[in-house]
Amino acid sequence: MKTYHLTIIGGGSTYTPGIVKSILDAHDVLPLRKLVLLDCDAERVARMGGFVRLLLAAHAPEVEVVVTTDREQAFSGMDFLFAQIRSGGLPMRALDEQIPLRHGVVGQETCGPGGFAFALRSIPDMIEIGRDLRRYAPDAWVLNYSNPAAILAELWRREFPDLKCLFICDMPIVIERLLAMTLGVEHADLAFDYVGLNHFGWWRHIWARDGRDVLPGLRARLLGGEKLKLFEDEHVNADWIPTFERLSKTLGYFPEFIPNTYLQYYFFGEEMVAESRPDYTRANRVMDTREKTVFAECDRCVAAGSVADSDLARGVHGDFIVDHVRALLGGAPLRTTVNVPNRGAVKGVPDEAIVEVHGLVSTHGVEAFAVGEVPHFQRALMVQQNAYEQLTVEAALENSYSKALQALTLNRTVPSADVARAILDDLIVANQGRWPVLERDIAG
Ligand code: NAD
Ligand code: G6P
Ligand code: MN
Repeated sequence: MKTYHLTIIGGGSTYTPGIVKSILDAHDVLPLRKLVLLDCDAERVARMGGFVRLLLAAHAPEVEVVVTTDREQAFSGMDFLFAQIRSGGLPMRALDEQIPLRHGVVGQETCGPGGFAFALRSIPDMIEIGRDLRRYAPDAWVLNYSNPAAILAELWRREFPDLKCLFICDMPIVIERLLAMTLGVEHADLAFDYVGLNHFGWWRHIWARDGRDVLPGLRARLLGGEKLKLFEDEHVNADWIPTFERLSKTLGYFPEFIPNTYLQYYFFGEEMVAESRPDYTRANRVMDTREKTVFAECDRCVAAGSVADSDLARGVHGDFIVDHVRALLGGAPLRTTVNVPNRGAVKGVPDEAIVEVHGLVSTHGVEAFAVGEVPHFQRALMVQQNAYEQLTVEAALENSYSKALQALTLNRTVPSADVARAILDDLIVANQGRWPVLERDIAG
């Protein structure tokens, strides 16, 4: 039987235990021979590695586990690589979120200036990773969760079109599962139609098995005050409840389609700022909760020499990435949201724009379904947001301050060019040595 070699890039992530559990559960289609955890932080990945070694020793002792900071060792001979890096770590995420808030602008991991700052740190790291993949694993499949996914996919389209990489996001699948639960049916019994960009889109239809579009009925219920049914998962915990509840507000303003929750940052900036604390953002919360809990549990298991009573959970996040591997390896094709160059799928949006739409993942790779026409409002928002994404990549690749300023000015979370410039200048100082140097190519 063929066995596989798989690397997790960013193996020190708190998501690693859940992903490894999902991989172990997929043993029938994805029997492993070797699992590599690669990370730039040797101490962090050693702690995680101790836990993963115990987990594998208990459930799949035949698998060799390697923990490394060396990309050549981690990439050579691999069949699959899962990428989940956070360039600069959670402390830099905290600054990404805090700096815009000091200027009265949304402070968020992937949206607005926070996502821009994260992108400018991640682009150089992803270029190094891409170059080494080309050298050591040119035929492997890469499945990327690293954010900001839309911008990294745009970078990949430009720089590494020869490498096979799927840019995936668990937010649409989480929301679809909540919508299915609220409808009282299995997710598998529904076919969704989605259009947008990553963290920036809408569901247009939800078809039941009998061909009926059940979205209008669901919309009426949500607009009538019914709440989304929530299940307990990594991303459906108490912290996320206001976000899921605000979905109904967005729907109330723009009732045509069901919105992705991330649109709240673009439509309700003042409200999001008012609800945030510039000295304690989501990054701080994650450092004080998920990060502490997961690493304390890793240390506890390593000290005890056993994972027998460990409750580090498996969830949608790990299952979703592994479902892609199943489909790539010849399991049933996976119908899901995909992030791919538009190439005509959405009319009126540039061909090269990375769009998020439904498609099929299979042994043939990925194919997007055609969407066709979208109304002015959604189309214009997509075109503007994509221009922001492209300018962000160009700012990094061309070391251009003026493109960085254009990008931030175009971003809907930023009210003026003056505010864009003030935030950009603060971000440059905070990211010294981590960002490409931006040449001052404008006056002033
Ligand atoms: P984390 O900080 O807990 O883990 C990331 C790991 O990557 C750390 O161990 C860090 O040391 C390592 N790392 C950073 N730069 C690296 C590099 N250049 N090479 C190798 N390793 C590197 O972060 P997290 O909360 O687990 O999130 C990881 C990433 O996944 C982030 O980009 C996050 O936004 C993304 N994410 C995406 C989704 C999605 O659905 N798209 C969901 C969750 C998380
Ligand atoms: C969702 C999104 C990810 C994002 C994550 C943040 O899963 O799809 O792109 O990184 O939420 O979660 P956190 O708990 O780190 O704020
Ligand atoms: Mn995402």
